[in-house]
Amino acid sequence: MKSLQVAAALLLLLFFGHSLARAITFSVHNKCPISIWPATAPNTGHPVIAGGGFYLPPGQTQRFEAPKTWNGRIWARTGCNFTSNRQPACETGDCDGRLQCNGLIGTPPATLVEVTLQGDTGKPNFYDVSLVDGYNLPVSVATRPFSSKCSIGSCSKNLNNLCPQELEVLNKDGEVIACKSACLAFNIDSFCCRNDYGTPEKCKPTMYSKMFKDACPSYYSYAFDMPPPLVNCASKEYVITFCPSAWGADQASI
Ligand SMILES: *[C@@H]1O[C@H](CO)[C@@H](O)[C@H](O)[C@H]1NC(C)=O
Repeated sequence: MKSLQVAAALLLLLFFGHSLARAITFSVHNKCPISIWPATAPNTGHPVIAGGGFYLPPGQTQRFEAPKTWNGRIWARTGCNFTSNRQPACETGDCDGRLQCNGLIGTPPATLVEVTLQGDTGKPNFYDVSLVDGYNLPVSVATRPFSSKCSIGSCSKNLNNLCPQELEVLNKDGEVIACKSACLAFNIDSFCCRNDYGTPEKCKPTMYSKMFKDACPSYYSYAFDMPPPLVNCASKEYVITFCPSAWGADQASI
């Protein structure tokens, strides 16, 4: 009898603890004209959320929850086929050929939504969109209810159309499906902001990062982008929309 009571108390505690911890909702919306496979990867010490990845056809939304102190990244994969044994399974953002990334990050380049939730620790929630490793899709982030100061706008141009040849990622049909950052493409300190270039004073915008900034002004175009395009807003729900205006405002007719 006693052990039954203990078990019941433990179950209650688990249930209560669970509902307390899972406090933030992400709503991921696919407004792209193509299917995407959104993915999540936690930073060290944080759990996998949304199973690590899922399929999202055009026009669909998926909601999932995260512990209120979750840290990690959310991105979208394109051109996936998980039924074959093809590796990688996705043309962009692939994580070891798996549908559910299970803690693995994606292969760059992919546009990253980076999130630092701090719940009710008295510290704010931070989020940004990063092109530091490159770009695959445009994305916007907003709170629900919407507040303009809490939102990260999408791109005004389709970076895949503007991508310089030396940064292009092509699929087997020769279409540009992603655009590497200069750091990813050339792996040199001045583009990657490391070693002698490891401070904001030393690591300056380049022709490449300026092109990213021009197309997607609300994103990190390189590691020390100034002012930091970091948003700090508390909300119970964040809406992440891929291709909010098709591929970019200049492509609104797609
Ligand atoms: C996925 O790959 C399999 C095996 O190669 C193929 O038969 C199928 O047509 C592919 N599916 C799509 C949607 O391309």
